[in-house]
Amino acid sequence: MEIYEKLLLENKAWAADKLSTDPKYFIRQSGEQHPDYFWIGCSDSRVPANEVTNTSPGEIFVHRNVANLVVHTDLNLLSVLQFAVEVLQVKHIIVCGHYGCGGVKSALDQFSHGLLNKWLRNIKDVYRIHRDEIDKQPNLELKTNKLVEFNVMEQVMNLAKTSIVQYAWNKKQSPVLHGWVYHLDDGILRDLIKIDHTYQMDEIYKFDFSKQEEI
Ligand code: CO
Repeated sequence: MEIYEKLLLENKAWAADKLSTDPKYFIRQSGEQHPDYFWIGCSDSRVPANEVTNTSPGEIFVHRNVANLVVHTDLNLLSVLQFAVEVLQVKHIIVCGHYGCGGVKSALDQFSHGLLNKWLRNIKDVYRIHRDEIDKQPNLELKTNKLVEFNVMEQVMNLAKTSIVQYAWNKKQSPVLHGWVYHLDDGILRDLIKIDHTYQMDEIYKFDFSKQEEI
């Protein structure tokens, strides 16, 4: 058996197991989704949103990329964000990083990583802002972990800078933005930052929607 075939077999077993405890499970799942949460996480295979939060299919809307970045020119992320905020009307957006993140660690070296250089540039920019604090750490592991934390907080700020989030804040004082970090060593999520519609950001990033109805 090829290794991938195990996934298809496991899927059949999973579906059968769901039906055995709840015969209407898939009938309910095939209706509309109403998740309260939008998760922006790292692509790392060890940090699956549903599993680490003990939630079920339908509870979390998910976008993942290398090092959980919110880049203002990333049409993929912005499309998912717009759908989450405007259509699903999620109540909370969680940016979740993780200690030991390979993407963040790679941003701290000076090797050329090919196409990835362009993506990691965003993390190098976070390092530049917080260099003094990060360089105080005694080794690469701790430097990486400090940058992981600053990176999560910066990405939460990047969410706040989007017209999508600001328009929703203006209209209905929602969603709340959270920055969390997951520890691979103990499986625990740590809460780093929480901001809502009362957040006072630098004026230059604030949009004035008073003269227009659309984003
Ligand atoms: Co990672």
